[in-house]
Amino acid sequence: MYAKKSEQESHRGRSFDSVNSAHEEKQLNNEVTFSKIDENQDNRSISTGRPTSSEKSSATIIFSLKNEVGGLVKALKLFQEKHVNLVHIESRKSKRRNSDFEIFVECDTEHEQFKDLTQLLKKHTDVVEITTFDNSTVPDEDMAGVPWFPKKISDLDLCADRVLMYGSELDADHPGFKDNVYRKRRKYFADLAMSYKHGDPIPRIDFTTEEVRTWGEVFRELNKLYPSHACKEYLKNLPLLSKYCSYSEDNIPQLEDVSHFLREHSGFTIRPVAGYLSPRDFLAGLAFRVFHCTQYVRHSSDPLYTPEPDTCHELLGHVPLLAEPSFAQFSQEIGLASLGASDDAIQKLATCYFFTVEFGLCKQDGRLRAYGAGLLSSISELKHAMSGKARILSFDPMVTCNQECLITTFQEVYFVSDSFEEAKNKMREFAKTIRRPFTVHYNPYTQSVDVLKDTNSINSMVKDIRHELDIVEDALNRLRT
Ligand SMILES: [Fe+2]
Repeated sequence: MYAKKSEQESHRGRSFDSVNSAHEEKQLNNEVTFSKIDENQDNRSISTGRPTSSEKSSATIIFSLKNEVGGLVKALKLFQEKHVNLVHIESRKSKRRNSDFEIFVECDTEHEQFKDLTQLLKKHTDVVEITTFDNSTVPDEDMAGVPWFPKKISDLDLCADRVLMYGSELDADHPGFKDNVYRKRRKYFADLAMSYKHGDPIPRIDFTTEEVRTWGEVFRELNKLYPSHACKEYLKNLPLLSKYCSYSEDNIPQLEDVSHFLREHSGFTIRPVAGYLSPRDFLAGLAFRVFHCTQYVRHSSDPLYTPEPDTCHELLGHVPLLAEPSFAQFSQEIGLASLGASDDAIQKLATCYFFTVEFGLCKQDGRLRAYGAGLLSSISELKHAMSGKARILSFDPMVTCNQECLITTFQEVYFVSDSFEEAKNKMREFAKTIRRPFTVHYNPYTQSVDVLKDTNSINSMVKDIRHELDIVEDALNRLRT
């Protein structure tokens, strides 16, 4: 989103997508907590996950059969006699004795019954391993005060209209402040975004000749720089966007088409937004692979400058990278780490987002390349960052999170990564340092987040992973045959 007027006017105000906004404090003060929401809106509450009296512990047992006829039947009868419910059973080739098979059993059981069972099993079989899972859970008091966060993709409806600034109102120093026609147009875009709900098609815009001309100038000037300044992933995806989403100098792509394109390439989708969201709300969207995009065009008086994100910034800066699966994963992990995090943690994550997704650099074939949208949509700062005069440090979230984000000038420092994979791994490690009494896992089938804070939810995820590993094993076996 950042665009700057020109080299000469590089000190004019800039802004960036919803993170590190000066208005953040105002929004964060309005954050609602679980307890507040539980009282009023059931659909916003979070289950504590504390096991009820009907929930049982679970266990896995691995045993091998003694060499006798009907050994397995006898063993299984022991489970029946002790009223132990078998959830899963399979035979496996023993890792210990090459010629033997072992029986793997997963069961639900009360502790006392389980103890009797294991004693009997040991008499009749060779028990190799017993693992029990207690239904421990994060205490409720640890969850108190955890800020509300969306659990499913449609929950984004609850925060996408909490626009902090630049919805339909413009500041006095905005280029369009005195232009009543522009302000009326902005109100039109703001109303469209504010009434949008998850699942709706994104409204198609009949852009004016003036808007297309403004877009065209930005498009033309930036495209002169991309071959020598943009990362290879960007250069790979931009032609695809021209082909499938009608990116061209004389056409402003429709967000609905772009959203379909992204869904097919990386699972990301777009949600129209009226203006700045809080960092918390904006990052929450990333957790669901949803990118909040503005749909209006900057004021025509100065096509190469905008004090706020506009559709030129979104379409040219963000979209080509969001189509890249590795970058999409990186973006989503920042979002997942933000869910339910403290205000301080949100600020650090937002700063990391700022210096990567907005202003990130990478090294490719020994050369510096840009992948940050703030750079890829700003002619003057893109040139500056790659000029050899800018200060560049290796991306390290522990360091980067404390760097000051400059809004009115070029950044004092840029951070470079070898690859998105490397940046993702570093962010993943950084996320582990964020204090949160639970972790979350994104479920792509339901487009929701599973809150992992008790052994039941963790066991459920383990089952899913086991299934995935079975698929991997099957695929490997087929390769060998
Ligand atoms: Fe942005």
